[in-house]
Amino acid sequence: MRPAEVAVQYVRCDEAPAPGPWLAESELAELARWHAQQRRVQFLAGRLAAKELVRELLGQSSVELAAIEIRSQDGRGRGVQPALRVAGQPGPFRLSIAHTARGAVAAASLRPAWGIGVDLVPRDLEARNLARAWFTPAEVQWLAGGRGYGPAAIWAAKEAAYKAAGGGEPFRPRCIQIYPLAGGRLAARLHGPTAGPLVEIYIEALDGHLAAVALAVPVPAPQGAGGGHHD
Ligand SMILES: CC(C)(COP(=O)(O)OP(=O)(O)OC[C@H]1O[C@@H](n2cnc3c(N)ncnc32)[C@H](O)[C@@H]1OP(=O)(O)O)[C@@H](O)C(=O)NCCC(=O)NCCS
Repeated sequence: MRPAEVAVQYVRCDEAPAPGPWLAESELAELARWHAQQRRVQFLAGRLAAKELVRELLGQSSVELAAIEIRSQDGRGRGVQPALRVAGQPGPFRLSIAHTARGAVAAASLRPAWGIGVDLVPRDLEARNLARAWFTPAEVQWLAGGRGYGPAAIWAAKEAAYKAAGGGEPFRPRCIQIYPLAGGRLAARLHGPTAGPLVEIYIEALDGHLAAVALAVPVPAPQGAGGGHHD
């Protein structure tokens, strides 16, 4: 079941509007970096899903879509966690976007300190080769047991966990360990130099896809350990 801290919006690619005044200047500049027509349509569907979601969460149907600005590239054009601004000010939600040839999904974390990540894969994605190349021995063993989710869901869970808690590192699927929790949910452990947040993932069906949504809950440092704090 979808956690209360998460909201999701889906838009089919064939509903994506043409670029126009509903996009901010910075978004038109990001779109211009994509040349393949299918990727441009996916960008547009993702932006529409995210903007409609933000507008609904703000409860302000009158806010112009162009005033909701979502940027997902850094100064060098590399993909980063989408950053939200509303009327020029940092927005009150964390966002994540994913797309396929068929549709785009946006997910928001209603708690600004909790990272969010979403991934979308076709329900019939043939993921056995991905599993061979990128799954950890523990994941392969768990899959071989034939219980619970298949490789497509685990792949989606890895991407969603990366987007929620990747922290600016490149995507390294084998460094993200997915494991089952009670009640059909999943969790992720990200291997790295520092203990990361607690990442919980749920999977839902969406227009012929599996959507994985990951929530990264900051883990407070032990008392006396120094360092920053989390709100
Ligand atoms: C994140 C990633 C795994 C997703 O790839 P994908 O399967 O091709 O695409 P998806 O449809 O699942 O997701 C695409 C969306 O993810 C978001 N995204 C891109 N990079 C991201 C990142 N580093 N963290 C979180 N979200 C990211 C964007 O919103 C993008 O959609 P948009 O460009 O239309 O806004 C891939 O883009 C990647 O490896 N990015 C890392 C790039 C990198 O090394 N950046 C520098 C360090 S952060």
